[in-house]
Amino acid sequence: MKKIKNTLFGNKPVTIDENSLIMAIESSCDETACAIVKGGRTVLANVVASQIEIHEKFGGVIPEIAAREHLEAVNVIVDEAFKQAGVRGEDISAFAGTVGPGLVGCLLVGLNASKSLALAYDKPFIGINHLNAHLAANFIDTNLEPPFLALLVSGGHTQIIYVKSFSEMKIIGETIDDAVGEAYDKVARLIGLPYPGGPKLDKMAQNGNSHAFKLPEAKVDGYNFSFSGLKTAVLRLVKSFENKELPVEDICASFQECVSSTLLKKVKRAAEEYSCKQIVLAGGVAANSEIRRKIFDLKNEGYDVYAPIMKYCTDNASMVASAAFFFENTYDDIDVEVFSRA
Ligand code: KG4
Ligand code: ZN
Repeated sequence: MKKIKNTLFGNKPVTIDENSLIMAIESSCDETACAIVKGGRTVLANVVASQIEIHEKFGGVIPEIAAREHLEAVNVIVDEAFKQAGVRGEDISAFAGTVGPGLVGCLLVGLNASKSLALAYDKPFIGINHLNAHLAANFIDTNLEPPFLALLVSGGHTQIIYVKSFSEMKIIGETIDDAVGEAYDKVARLIGLPYPGGPKLDKMAQNGNSHAFKLPEAKVDGYNFSFSGLKTAVLRLVKSFENKELPVEDICASFQECVSSTLLKKVKRAAEEYSCKQIVLAGGVAANSEIRRKIFDLKNEGYDVYAPIMKYCTDNASMVASAAFFFENTYDDIDVEVFSRA
């Protein structure tokens, strides 16, 4: 059996190998999720309880309601995961939970549930950074190993990360204002699309003309990004249609074109500079049709390109279990506290 990593149970090192089962819980925002993953790559159970319907009427996530919903759901989804995988608590090698970034009240529910399971079954606890988990979604059902260059696009973050090894990664660029997902959600609200706006905007864009409007691409140094100017430009564009019918699909397509080409330009430049032939897309916005299309186009230029399948793009616990299995820079400490911002 190949040793993958050592983690800690109290002060005692425990070896995780390719046959190890890790159970993980994720509750950083509006999905309560539990999964059991074997060897970091094979999903035996993936259960997600989404709160979208509950927050829809408020037009966004209400943290206090979200935390209470997590509390209602967590035991049910843990039971369901054991049932789906056909295993018992005794069969699990380690329990993992998301530590942050995220909504503190929400994180507390999942983190305490996973810590409690670790204590109840006398197994190690592994705390996970949510962003590392999004990256790890790319290990599921693949043979991907570092080094790779990752474009991480989520509701809270936009980063280009050079993942040199399972223990060493460097953020080489990030947004200086809005995250891509945030920009999608704000623009969606501007043009009257209901929460959650990102996927709806993507759908409308697919029927629009991406060259209908020329939107400004922010000029930012290095591998950094800025999307707040683009959002303001869309606001101005929407206002210019005051008493006329808004060409919603064309606006969506033009916005999507501007965002996706900005992202791709910098990713390609970074891959060249770092002489990295593996490119990875991660985060909730990795579900976006045009960003996926453009990044997969890089295959024609000799790159190996990875992006999770849809259900592992948005928040889920399989990616948390996979991160616990592969990454060394985790929080192997039962006393670790939640944190809200990276
Ligand atoms: O990864 P995630 O759960 O957020 C954080 O961890 O912060 O991703 C949620 C974000 C939301 O902003 C949502 O609108 C966006 O991902 N999103 C999309 C699409 N699907 C989800 N944005 C654009 N196109 C999509 N298809
Ligand atoms: Zn996320």
